Amino acid sequence: MSRIALVLALIVVLLAACNQKALTNPVTGDPARGAEIFHQGVNGAPACAGCHTTSRASFTRGGISIAPNLSGLSQRAGSRIEGLSAEQYLFNSITSPGSFVVDGFQNLMYGQYANQLSRQDLADLLAYLMTL
Ligand code: HEC
Repeated sequence: MSRIALVLALIVVLLAACNQKALTNPVTGDPARGAEIFHQGVNGAPACAGCHTTSRASFTRGGISIAPNLSGLSQRAGSRIEGLSAEQYLFNSITSPGSFVVDGFQNLMYGQYANQLSRQDLADLLAYLMTL
């Protein structure tokens, strides 16, 4: 094999390895940082906690809530839309809230998270939501 062919073959193998890594090693979410974003917002985007509560106790707090209580969310997220896993549903809920509106609520969720959250922010939020 000529030297050039060898170098090309090596590049192909390296590229394949990188690709493989991208597929099998997506951004890993940190639930603690996700909780922080949930409660404080990030990059100018409003905190999720401004509209959502996450504890069972808040079910009994009375009054009208503008957004669903997210307590136990990881248990129902996977059955909201047929064919979507819990993580896929949660990702969609954040990045395109109007695509599915929870029964009894209106499409009032902040709509710019897709532009303001980084991939890492989203992964962290998902990791946190899956603990609820
Ligand atoms: C301005 C208020 C508001 C903010 C801020 C907000 N949401 Fe929402 N969210 C809503 C409303 C209203 C709904 C119900 C309508 C719908 O399904 O789009 C909702 C629905 C959801 C659902 C679907 C819940 C279910 O039971 O299926 C998830 C998940 C969710 N929001 C997550 C988030 C996260 C995570 C953030 C922060 C990154 C956030 N929301 C910020 C108002 C808000």
